[in-house]
This record gives sequence, structure tokens and C-alpha cells, in this order.
Amino acid sequence: MGNSCRKPIVHVSSSNISGKGKSQSEVSKNSNSSDGKAASQTLGPTIDGSISSSLKSFSFNDLREATRNFRQENLIGEGGFGFVYKGWINESSFAPTRPGSGIMVAIKKLKPESFQGHKEWLAEVNYLGQLHHENVVKLIGYCSDGKNRLLVYEFMQRGSLENHLFRKGVQPISWAARINIAAGVARGLAFLHTLDANVIYRDLKASNVLLDSDFSPKLSDFGLARDGPTGDNTHVSTRIIGTQGYAAPEYVATGHLTLRSDVYSFGVVLLELLTGRRVVEAEKPGNSRETLVDWAMPFLRDGKRISRVMDMRLCGQYPKKGAQAAGALAHQCLNADPKYRPTMKSVLAKLEELHSSNTTIPSTPPKSESRNHTSKHARHALNSMRNTR
Ligand SMILES: Nc1ncnc2c1ncn2[C@@H]1O[C@H](COP(=O)(O)OP(=O)(O)OP(=O)(O)O)[C@@H](O)[C@H]1O
Ligand SMILES: [Mg+2]
Repeated sequence: MGNSCRKPIVHVSSSNISGKGKSQSEVSKNSNSSDGKAASQTLGPTIDGSISSSLKSFSFNDLREATRNFRQENLIGEGGFGFVYKGWINESSFAPTRPGSGIMVAIKKLKPESFQGHKEWLAEVNYLGQLHHENVVKLIGYCSDGKNRLLVYEFMQRGSLENHLFRKGVQPISWAARINIAAGVARGLAFLHTLDANVIYRDLKASNVLLDSDFSPKLSDFGLARDGPTGDNTHVSTRIIGTQGYAAPEYVATGHLTLRSDVYSFGVVLLELLTGRRVVEAEKPGNSRETLVDWAMPFLRDGKRISRVMDMRLCGQYPKKGAQAAGALAHQCLNADPKYRPTMKSVLAKLEELHSSNTTIPSTPPKSESRNHTSKHARHALNSMRNTR
């Protein structure tokens, strides 16, 4: 991670290739109950039934043409599901067009050997075909042609939050933008949680938060989403699947999934936004199994020490009170006991309050002052991380 104090964000390219072996990051463990209903019974029709008529059914040839035969230069990312390509289609007919004409879309192509597979492709089609919200990515259509499974989304100009927070050489995101992103993600989750079906997203992580040209966030990847408990039921039982570090501890231990599992994952993303650090580092010195959460919790609890964990790339340009409040919120969301975690609705209310008070952010201190001040804390934070990991 860079420690130079560069001007917070304004413009970066979203043509990024994450290139990581996603399936390795999955936690999957069988519990005694099954998860044969990744596609919701309440929200999700099956592919044989009625797929939302608002979705366009593409032929494989259309999408091959839209991406110029899935050309390498159009590749924008890779995940557990498959590769994601840039493509161009006509806005009204959806027919493939030449690059630069029509609208740009993101086309995800399922790897035949995908760990996630058809069931999740179907869940994605079913959920996104029906859920429409400013903080949920728009699915334009799908392709189910022979063995080929693809998904066509609106193109999110700035790619994933993961790339902006953790990628070397990318402009840091400002405090105000981070709080706005956190609020948008919370709004998306609160929307899902308050639907009749109590939809649990289950896969919140920085790579699944996509950013629009103005950095407004949208949730993507509904392959693991499922309807939550209804009536007197407190949880749904599932096969444990999600991403290491982001999945709530009680869910990993028991397979019991609740809306509060999403709240925990939200706490992790909020912590990543504050610290600019990944919840689980790919390469960690020594054998320490300590995660970012273990390390940061004491600093989040004691607001006076919050600056010790803050992203050094913010160069101290954040309101101390705001950072303390955001840290305290992350602390609540990360409570090991789900019943003490707040609802997404109250998380959203807190973040909206923080967002509106952003006008009180102190103006940037003189550069040299800012640098010295921050580097002291930043050095300290880095050393603490090193010492404790
Ligand atoms: N609609 C989109 N617009 C622009 N870029 C996108 C879009 N969808 C995905 N991407 C890019 O493709 C990358 C890979 O996305 P994908 O969802 O396949 O994998 P992931 O989220 O990194 O991992 P996982 O499969 O575990 O969810 C994203 O990180 C993002 O950079
Ligand atoms: Mg994703």
C-alpha cells in the first residue's frame, strides 16, 4: 500500500483485471441442511418458468459479436463465476453494435468448470430480473444457449470498490466518497432486507460493490442471495458458502443465515473503507491467523485511538468525530453476537447523518502539516499491524 499523500480521487480507469483465483477464497462446508434453493422460492421463478419479461434473452452469437469474439482487450475482470468483458449493444434493439457505438455493457461469461455454476447464474437472473433499486446493479439480459451461460449488465464506469481501495497506483478515494459509498451499500442492503422475502445478499465484499462514474455504489452478484426467514423462523439453514473474512462467524460455525449475517459483512466492508486494508491479506507474514477485524476491534471500540487504523492514504483529511462515529458503527456491525448488531435500516440512518455532516469536514490542512501528522499515525498503524500479524 502506498503511503504517499496524494490528492484523493477524481479520475481513474476502471479497466482492471483482478486476476485472482477466486475459488480459493470461498469457504464451503457442508452442514446438515441443504441449500437447494439458492434461487428464491418467493422472488425467483425458474428458468423453465417465467423469467422477468424485462430481461432480454441474448443468443451466444449476439454476445460474441458484442465483445468482438470475447477479445482479450475487452476483458475487464475475472471472478469465481467467470470472465467479464466490455461489449457494445444498441440501446433500444439490444442488437450488437460496433465498439464505441450504442451503449457499453459488461458481459459475464460463466466458466464451464465454474465452482459457482448454473444454480448461481439462475439465482442471479431471478433476483436481478425482479429487483430494481438505485443501489443494485441493473441486469439487462442473459444468455442460455446450449451450454453457454452469460449475463449482461449495465456498465459500471469505475469498476469495483476493491480495485479502488487496494490496487496499487490508484488514486485514493476521499473521506466524503467513502461515506457516500458506505451509505449507498447500506441503502441497497436495507432495501433487500425490508422486502417481503427478506432477501439476504450473502456475498457482500469490496469486489461486489461496483462504482458508477460519480462513485455511487451498486451491489452486484446475486448468485448467493436467498430469501430470508419468514414467520416465526429465526434463520434459514444453508450450506455455508461465501467469502473468507466477510462471512459472519456464527454463519460459518452453524450455517444459520440471518439478515444480521449481511450486517456483519457490511461491517467488514466499512472497516475496509476506513482502513484501506483487505480483511484477509493474500500474503501475511508468519502464521498469524489474525484478520483485519481482530486487529482493528480495540481501536474501533476506543474512539480516541481511531486514527491508528485509518487509511494513511487519506492523509488525515477526515473529520475526527466522523471517523470515530464510523468506527463505532463498524464495531457494532462486527459484534460476534448477531443480536447486538444493528439493522441495516439503522446503519443507513447513521451513515446518512454522517454524510450530511460532511460539510463540516475541516479544510485540508497545509500539506506539510498534514503529511507529518499523518505519517506519524500511519507509521504507528503499520507497525502495529506488523507486530500483531
Ligand atoms: N457491471 C460491471 N461493470 C463494470 N465492471 C464490472 C461489472 N461487473 C463486473 N465488473 C468487473 O469485473 C470484475 C470481476 O467481477 P466478478 O463479479 O466476476 O468477480 P468478483 O466480484 O471479483 O469475484 P466473485 O466471483 O467472487 O464475486 C469486477 O471486480 C469488476 O472490476
Ligand atoms: Mg463479483
